[in-house]
Amino acid sequence: MTSEGFQMIKLVGIAGSIAEESYNRTLLKFIAMQFNQEVDIELLDINDVPMFTQDDATVDNHAVAFLSQKIQSADGVIIATPEHNHTVPAALKSVIEWLSYKVHPFDGKPVMIVGASYLTQGTSRAQLHLRQILEAPGVNAVVLPGNEVLVANAKQAFDDFGILKDTDTVNFIHAVLRKFITFVKVINTLDKQEDTAYESKKFGCHQWYRHDSFGC
Ligand SMILES: Cc1cc2nc3c(=O)[nH]c(=O)nc-3n(C[C@H](O)[C@H](O)[C@H](O)COP(=O)(O)O)c2cc1C
Repeated sequence: MTSEGFQMIKLVGIAGSIAEESYNRTLLKFIAMQFNQEVDIELLDINDVPMFTQDDATVDNHAVAFLSQKIQSADGVIIATPEHNHTVPAALKSVIEWLSYKVHPFDGKPVMIVGASYLTQGTSRAQLHLRQILEAPGVNAVVLPGNEVLVANAKQAFDDFGILKDTDTVNFIHAVLRKFITFVKVINTLDKQEDTAYESKKFGCHQWYRHDSFGC
């Protein structure tokens, strides 16, 4: 609750990098710190998540269960994706595979994508791929349309304290974040109405990917 008496939206921020020093983690930390009067962002790491394999995909992997629970209880998610060879890094793709097999915490969850990379296109190609992945039926996230937050030339973009140097970029991120907060409220309101309307949901397994063969 803020001093003005309104409930702050709770988001989780996931950096799709397992590098010790990650520009995408720096970007998320900056967003969480810069806009902490408007939104509560908890940062999550994917470093402890093993590579996904269907052979051993039990949900009792602690790191996967932790991530799943945190995403499930958040109002929305911000993913900061690096770009490796014009797509998302394997580590991030693997985490999403874990989170779309036995557990589905992204189902109906509002997601905003941001990204930082070395080159001038600032993860634009990785972001397109990530959007497609998140919209696959087993993931079924609700991704904020448009509004691409592309932090190019990442090596020069931050100062020594992890602050984004370019004011226009900061203002743009602020504008997108405000749109995302509205988007989160709308999507979560629709979701609640749908839950009330469709009693059958209580019985689970209401979508094709939830059938036994897909791990429901
Ligand atoms: C295998 C590999 C491929 C890469 N491919 C791209 C690329 O396609 N586009 C790009 O902008 N940067 C590319 N980079 C550089 C990344 O932008 C850079 O490593 C960035 O720091 C990754 O994000 P992180 O610091 O959050 O881990 C690549 C890096 C690696 C190691």
